[in-house]
Amino acid sequence: MTRYRFLVNGTPAEVDVPGMRRLLDVLREDLGLTGTKEGCGEGECGACSVLLDGQVVDACLVPMAQVDGRIVRSVVGLTLAARERGTLDALQEAFLEHGAAQCGICSPGMLMAARAYLDAGGDDDEDHIREAIAGNLCRCTGYTKIVTAIAAVAADVGGA
Ligand code: FES
Ligand code: FES
Repeated sequence: MTRYRFLVNGTPAEVDVPGMRRLLDVLREDLGLTGTKEGCGEGECGACSVLLDGQVVDACLVPMAQVDGRIVRSVVGLTLAARERGTLDALQEAFLEHGAAQCGICSPGMLMAARAYLDAGGDDDEDHIREAIAGNLCRCTGYTKIVTAIAAVAADVGGA
């Protein structure tokens, strides 16, 4: 066991776990942040996407030894920030408005990939958006509604 300290959704966290324990398990099982989902468990589907120092990673592939002292943001962080503002995150609103979440299995990871894209100044170009979410699989929407939702937020941010 090793003690790892990191920041998750703006709050300091501390866990005593083996260095190879997956970040996904620490988030879901040790910290109760179950908004982050497990799909394939093999780095293929993106359902477990979170931000590590602002970069999208598959939490099922990240061992805790790589997380010490770093900043993790999960989909729960979007919700907490939104609750403080009294609104949903602009992406969450857009996903609702454009029907971009159906079964919702992919949505937590998709939202985080999209959030990283927008935080990095991503624009509303469809090809750019498709590239940004290329690591996130969706079985329901055909991606069009997801791309439309992300583009709507990107256009809004760009025009603000
Ligand atoms: S559960 Fe991590 S990529 Fe599929
Ligand atoms: S909404 Fe069902 S997998 Fe994307």
